[in-house]
Amino acid sequence: MDNPFLEDMLAGLQRQPKTLSSKYFYDKEGDKIFQEIMNMESYYLPSCELEIIEQKTEDIAKQIGSTELDVIELGAGDGVKTVKLIQGLLAAGKKVNYVPLDISPDVLETNKSNILKQLPQLSIEPIAGDYFKTMQKLSGRTKPKLILFLGSNIGNFKGQSGVDFLTLVKKHTTAEDYLLLGADLKKDPEIILKAYNDPEGITARFNLNLLHRMNKELNANFDLANFKHYPYYNPISGTCYSYLISLKDQKVEIADSTIFFQKNEPLHTEVSQKYSLQDLEELILAAGFNGIESFLDTKEWFSLSLIR
Ligand code: AVJ
Repeated sequence: MDNPFLEDMLAGLQRQPKTLSSKYFYDKEGDKIFQEIMNMESYYLPSCELEIIEQKTEDIAKQIGSTELDVIELGAGDGVKTVKLIQGLLAAGKKVNYVPLDISPDVLETNKSNILKQLPQLSIEPIAGDYFKTMQKLSGRTKPKLILFLGSNIGNFKGQSGVDFLTLVKKHTTAEDYLLLGADLKKDPEIILKAYNDPEGITARFNLNLLHRMNKELNANFDLANFKHYPYYNPISGTCYSYLISLKDQKVEIADSTIFFQKNEPLHTEVSQKYSLQDLEELILAAGFNGIESFLDTKEWFSLSLIR
């Protein structure tokens, strides 16, 4: 088999409890629904992060010694927030070369046109592929780097895998490089839960779209009406979990395999980890970085952390 999507889905569906990787949410339809999520009232993350970018980029730039910077963005997305950040860096006298990395080539097109609309002179070198493949392509770069990992994308990595990922990022840096990490902070559990359980059902559609994608691309026959979106937040661990709950005993065909679901059986699809400032410090030290300075929004719901 040389279809990683199929391999990963089958392995996940044959595991107990059934668990799928959230990286497959982002097909064309998934990208579109995620854009809707980012515009939701209850999904506070983008507006908090944008506030920090608008208020704190000058302070952040002052901490960075080098004038010339390769700004490398992991999981760049549409670039709407990044434009503001780059504008702030330019205003602080930095010379910037922008390298957006993303798993979705479509999103990289949108990113480039969004950025060029506002910064027509900016040099942009997009690289499409997953984190691991695209990061390998950074090795030949000699300019000081500012690596951006925004949007609390780090929260999708479970437990030790978050440390492992940042350790890998660290391997691609030198002593003069910085990492700017966006992370969603622990807060009132009800606010967090609502961000993943919107009354409009947009997040439910996002979660169910993974089943739809399997139907389209893997010749599966999930009946989406037989599953419901169930998010759950544990305020002790700070982990928000998303599940799809099977509404009845059912069997689903996918490629040549048959998968059985029991009534009320959960299919685990995503984790979105929330952090205290101390959690963040422990995380970056465990990954081998040297220091962290965190910049917060006025509500103190989100952090942009500059990491050495
Ligand atoms: C893009 C991973 C940061 O976990 O908050 C939004 C994805 N999932 N609503 C998040 C997501 C459900 C999002 N990240």
